Amino acid sequence: MNDDQKRRAGEAAAERVEAGMIVGLGTGSTAAWFVKALAARNLPDLRCVPTSEKTADLARELGLTLSTLEDTPRIDLTVDGADEIGPGLALIKGGGAALLREKLVWEASARCICIADAAKVVKVLGAFPLPIEVVAFGHKTTANRIADVLTDHDIAMPARLRQADRGVVRTDGGNVIYDAKCQAIHDPARLADDLKLITGVVEHGLFLDLTDEAIIGGDNGVDVLLP
Ligand code: 5RP
Repeated sequence: MNDDQKRRAGEAAAERVEAGMIVGLGTGSTAAWFVKALAARNLPDLRCVPTSEKTADLARELGLTLSTLEDTPRIDLTVDGADEIGPGLALIKGGGAALLREKLVWEASARCICIADAAKVVKVLGAFPLPIEVVAFGHKTTANRIADVLTDHDIAMPARLRQADRGVVRTDGGNVIYDAKCQAIHDPARLADDLKLITGVVEHGLFLDLTDEAIIGGDNGVDVLLP
């Protein structure tokens, strides 16, 4: 059922795209629905900047014209999923390990639309573990410093190194991810600032003041949320 909601959100967002735009393509299962719906529209002169190798592969397969942030540093519209959508459209992202490239593309975009199924909307951020991207060199030392910051934010659980079947997960940039089980993030802006001050932390999954609109898929249509 959630997949239908994701598809509806992705299809509605694809309708926001106009011919000639430079479009940021998010990562994840919801963003994939957007990429498919966008390709189906066959709009002329689109250039698309993907936020991961996985999205790049899908977009290429569907015949979309790809660009890079280096070649097209200003993006008209980015559409991407989220793991949680909190008050003011503050987000947790990075469940798909693409948070660094996603944030670079979002910050280069004139407009950002978040697409999600209804279960992603929460009253308080933090039930979904917060992804923190860390340089692989000395990552256990960095994890200790992350633990200190989390303690300072009344978060008792240390962040856990993300593992998959084939071992430690590496991002497209070769970094590792620590997931912090926060339960409730009471001051997202202060936590975001404190995490960014740690040497070795490349990025975190708090996307604050970046979302212009959220399109939430429902069982019969979509809802639009504004910050
Ligand atoms: C990837 C992301 C995704 O947008 C997020 O994990 C949501 O994924 P999905 O649409 O599959 O639920 O941030 O880094």
